[in-house]
Amino acid sequence: MSYKRTEISKEQVARQLAVCEEIKRELAAGSRAMVDTYGCQQNEEDSEKLRGYLAAMGYEMTDNEHEADVIVINTCAVREHAEQRVFGNLGALTHTKKENPNQMIAVCGCMVKQEHIVEKIKKSYPLVSLVFGPDELWRFPELLQRAREGKKRVYAPGEGDGCVAEGVPHLRDGKVKAWLSVMNGCNNFCSYCIVPYTRDRERSRRADDIIAEARELVAQGYKEIMLLGQNVNSYGKDLDEGVSFAELIRRINALEGDFVIRFMTSHPKDATPELFSAMAECEKCEKHLHLPLQSGSDRILKLMNRRYDAEKYLSQVEAVRSCIPDIVLTTDIIVGYPGETDEDFAATMRLAEKVRFDAMFTFIYSKREGTPAAKMEDPFTREQKQQHFDALLELQNRISEEKHREYIGKTVRVLIDGRDREEGVLTARTLGGRLVRISGDERLIGSFAETRIVDCNTWALRGELI
Ligand code: SAH
Ligand code: SF4
Ligand code: F3S
Repeated sequence: MSYKRTEISKEQVARQLAVCEEIKRELAAGSRAMVDTYGCQQNEEDSEKLRGYLAAMGYEMTDNEHEADVIVINTCAVREHAEQRVFGNLGALTHTKKENPNQMIAVCGCMVKQEHIVEKIKKSYPLVSLVFGPDELWRFPELLQRAREGKKRVYAPGEGDGCVAEGVPHLRDGKVKAWLSVMNGCNNFCSYCIVPYTRDRERSRRADDIIAEARELVAQGYKEIMLLGQNVNSYGKDLDEGVSFAELIRRINALEGDFVIRFMTSHPKDATPELFSAMAECEKCEKHLHLPLQSGSDRILKLMNRRYDAEKYLSQVEAVRSCIPDIVLTTDIIVGYPGETDEDFAATMRLAEKVRFDAMFTFIYSKREGTPAAKMEDPFTREQKQQHFDALLELQNRISEEKHREYIGKTVRVLIDGRDREEGVLTARTLGGRLVRISGDERLIGSFAETRIVDCNTWALRGELI
């Protein structure tokens, strides 16, 4: 499949910033904007860019839809539930739009790449003035300007191949952790998944641009940099720079400063010994690998087009554990893929028991229109799938708790990243990404600390500062 990479130049982005300035001159004092995000970390990172542009236009940010003059809904299409929430919330905005008829409502993100969704918005949601796809985000100011002129509703779902844009400003949430997108898109076409259709083909940002952004984040005081891509192991394969993802980690690790590096997501078919040794050698790289298994049945893995089998997956687990014995291993599992039998599911249970993941994100299969799996027979009922789901969750909860118990009495380094107001404790993460609750002063947020683990439950450890 030939693929054309479109690079959006810094000049093109600069023109968008000039549009921001124009809007700013016209904007009434105290105008507010709200960005509501439904998707993955990549979508969250996109929302930070939307907020960056909106701030450049002079908007103050709010979380209250009643006081927002602009509302941007950044959608996700990965499961039906996310889509239903978007439509539910859009319906509810009819009231706020009545209170404030000038309120501008925009919908963007992955759902917009599905034609039937755009049609539905056109027909049934006249309150939406602007619709734009993920690849049009870099020109959001110009699109918003057109929508503000108010003559017509504006539709820019985007067509053709995905782009790479540099220089879009971010307004980041928080001061401790930062997302850094290293690539966009996906080439894998797992048969259940909508992402390759909504995010186009894989394209990597240039290593120099990524390093410059990482350096800037460290200078701003961020303590954790989370590198994002749908399959980070493919990083750089579309460029002529000869920088692999492992090499990228090494280069970021070499930056001066007190910070840690994390990344998501790694496809089991592509994770390499080079990646594992870079993780082991780089002292700033967290010893955590998220390696989505999806199913333990070879038959289902084949139908899913995952291009590995259970044996290959286990060999990856062995490889990373022999390189980094205390690696924290997490995974994603889909329960109830079309035609998944009790026997297939039993294979997933066996594999989960064998690997003993530290944590697992489980999803019931959701049919996505336009994917190959959507055309498959799906004879099993929701109740049958739910039973499997519950059994897997129970197994994982037991394992998670057992693994947490092994921490008791140990001293671990954590990054204190926030406060749980309800419980009145600080929240922190071990360098493998496990949640730790600690009593302590709010001023410690954003610092690394040594903690003795004294107790635990299924979801978190409890620590005491040393
Ligand atoms: N690129 C990443 C994850 C993308 S989506 C990867 O390949 O691992 C995050 C998770 O959502 C997937 O790992 C999968 O477990 C789940 N998912 C994706 N499509 C789904 C669907 N149609 N139904 C249920 N879960 C799905
Ligand atoms: Fe979806 Fe598969 Fe790509 Fe992940 S690797 S985004 S599951 S198609
Ligand atoms: Fe959802 Fe798009 Fe992310 S479909 S999971 S927001 S890439």
